[in-house]
Parts: sequence; C-alpha cells; structure tokens
Amino acid sequence: MILETYTKGLQTLIAEEEIKTRCEILGKEITEHYKGKDLVVIGFLKGVFPFFADLVRHIGLPIRCDFIGVSSYGSRTATSGVVRLTSDITQPVNNCEILIVEDIVDTGLTMKYLLDTMKMKGAASVEICSLLSKPSRRKVPVTIHFPGFEVDDHFVVGYGMDWGERLRNLRYIGYYPEGPPELE
Ligand code: IMP
Repeated sequence: MILETYTKGLQTLIAEEEIKTRCEILGKEITEHYKGKDLVVIGFLKGVFPFFADLVRHIGLPIRCDFIGVSSYGSRTATSGVVRLTSDITQPVNNCEILIVEDIVDTGLTMKYLLDTMKMKGAASVEICSLLSKPSRRKVPVTIHFPGFEVDDHFVVGYGMDWGERLRNLRYIGYYPEGPPELE
C-alpha cells in the first residue's frame, strides 16, 4: 500500500507553515484570554490530535487536557447529526472554564452536541477553538471564539482529518478538486 493511492489529485489548501503560524497566534490569544483561570482544554477525537498537540504547546498556562469522542451516523463525507458519546472526559469539570478544540466545524451538529454535553457537566464557561470552519455548510449556528481558517465547501484531508481513516498523518491540509479517490 502506498501513500500516492490516497494523495492522487490532492491539492494543498493550507500549507504546513501557515498552520504553524496560526497555532502560535491562537496559543497566544488563548493564554491572554484565560490568564488566572482554571482552564480545561478538551480535544475532540480523533481528527484533532495534531492540532491539539501543536496548539497546547503554545498555551502558557497550567491547563488540564482531556479528550472526548463521539460517533455520528452519516455518509463518509457528512454527519447526520445523530451523535453518540463513545469516549468521555476523565475528570470533573464543574465550575471550570472549558475550551473545546476541534479539527473542523462543518454542519455544527457535532459541536452543538459537545456544547450541550459540557454545559450539563456544570462548566462555568464553554468556548470553542476550531482549526477549520466551513460556514457555508452550517445547519446550526456555532460561535467559534478562536478560529483557525475558514474554508469553502471542500472535503478536506490531512493534519488530523481523514479520508476513509487514511491521511490523518499529512503535515498539510489538502482537498480533491475532482473529488476524493474511490475506496474499496
Ligand atoms: P459536523 O458535525 O458536520 O460539524 O462535523 C464535524 C466532524 O465531521 C469533524 O470533527 C470531522 O470529524 C468531520 N468532518 C467534517 N468535514 C470534514 C472534512 O472536510 N474532512 C474530514 N472530516 C470532516
């Protein structure tokens, strides 16, 4: 199995250097915003892992880190909005400030579920940092307090985001102008 089977026709949308710079800026903004607060940064699995690792290393606060996972029913390239918790956070967050970190907000349905879940756990505040956002696809309104990049309605891969569970390990974000390759 070779990488080119999956990267055939893939165009760079956001280069490694641009991602790096944005992570530094977001890290500084988050540090300023939460100075003196008890912040828990919660990553949304699995697509967030490279962004999460790069982002938190630019936050100059004694944050706690945790992760949450959901499975959603839908096609390979779209969420249905029917979301189920598959992996919960491991520590109490009542009266804490929470920052949910996401790879991409598309329809917003997953994020709405995560926001509701965190509020139910008694968080003092819940805010969102998302590397990417596709505003043209939104089905429910979502305020992204710390946005990375806005993208058009492309199916994107790389830097955590997958095509059939592959390509999460790319160092850049790409898209397929002709549509993604067929998978067996
Ligand atoms: P939403 O519920 O429609 O906002 O979808 C959120 C989740 O769908 C993201 O966390 C991703 O896992 C996945 N997703 C949405 N758009 C893309 C994409 O273009 N590429 C890869 N995954 C995506």
